[in-house]
Amino acid sequence: MVNIRLMTEADVALGMRLKQQAGWNQLEADWRRMLALQPDGCFVAEVDGVGVGTTVACVFDDVAWIAMVLVDAEVRSQGIGKALMTHALEFLDRQGVRAIRLDATPLGQPLYEKLGFQVEYTLVRYAGVLPVLADQASGTVVRTAPRETWDALVALDTAINRTNRGKFLLTLFAENPTAVRYVPQGDGVAGYLAVRPGCNALQLGPCMASGIAGLLLLADAWCRYSGQRVFLDVPKQHGAAPRLAEQLGLQAQRPLVRMCRGPLVHEDALRFWASSGPELG
Ligand SMILES: CC(C)(COP(=O)(O)OP(=O)(O)OC[C@H]1O[C@@H](n2cnc3c(N)ncnc32)[C@H](O)[C@@H]1OP(=O)(O)O)[C@@H](O)C(=O)NCCC(=O)NCCS
Repeated sequence: MVNIRLMTEADVALGMRLKQQAGWNQLEADWRRMLALQPDGCFVAEVDGVGVGTTVACVFDDVAWIAMVLVDAEVRSQGIGKALMTHALEFLDRQGVRAIRLDATPLGQPLYEKLGFQVEYTLVRYAGVLPVLADQASGTVVRTAPRETWDALVALDTAINRTNRGKFLLTLFAENPTAVRYVPQGDGVAGYLAVRPGCNALQLGPCMASGIAGLLLLADAWCRYSGQRVFLDVPKQHGAAPRLAEQLGLQAQRPLVRMCRGPLVHEDALRFWASSGPELG
């Protein structure tokens, strides 16, 4: 008998075990951030009082994200994933959200399709070690974003994503302030890139930028993290972003299918260079 209950800090160990089993990149800090962002939207599935599954939801105004849908390999195909998702969807429906989005793995996609999600587009996870640069001098156009600029970065992100992810982004920036880079443009911002650690690789992204600023930000990340292993999740349809990843010698590792339940949320595809990872778009 499956029981779904709220996740607590004490469940971080379960989350880490399940994501390790799936080979995912998250650290404890990622679970704690999810819990802090939406404490009433993070759930654990139990069988006979033992935690066997997780899912987390996060509400941004009228758009929500679902992530970390994980079921212990020993108890899959018994309806636990569906029970977790149904619980999370009921929670989100009660919040009155218009659209629910997620980035699906090939294992998750059939389950989400049965629950009314439709495919939007594919992102490609690139992975690899950035080529080593002889001269690590970073371009002067790209700078570390001082705190005073963070609201402008959130505003740019909102304009591109058509969703205000401020509560997530401000937490992410505060965790690693020196890893938030931006390209100023007059009094405004042409683009930004944030980076965070993972257990398998550094996650480069989100990267939201117009035209050349996206290239500059990713080149700057290459200078700063040269020789290090990275993940970069880019929309396949973008063109320039996958091309750059390939020119840097990164390998396409796996697809992620962005899906939506409810009216589609159309991002500004040209300025969407890289997602923050599969958790929150
Ligand atoms: C995806 C995952 C959470 C599914 O959990 P689960 O407990 O095995 O799923 P369920 O038993 O509840 O299956 C629910 C429905 O989806 C279907 N389904 C589940 N996985 C499927 C698959 N790989 N292919 C086809 N159908 C599948 C089931 O047949 C079931 O359909 P039904 O209700 O009509 O019988 C689990 O496989 C998992 O943890 N995978 C690794 C992590 C991962 O990739 N998570 C998804 C992140 S987006």
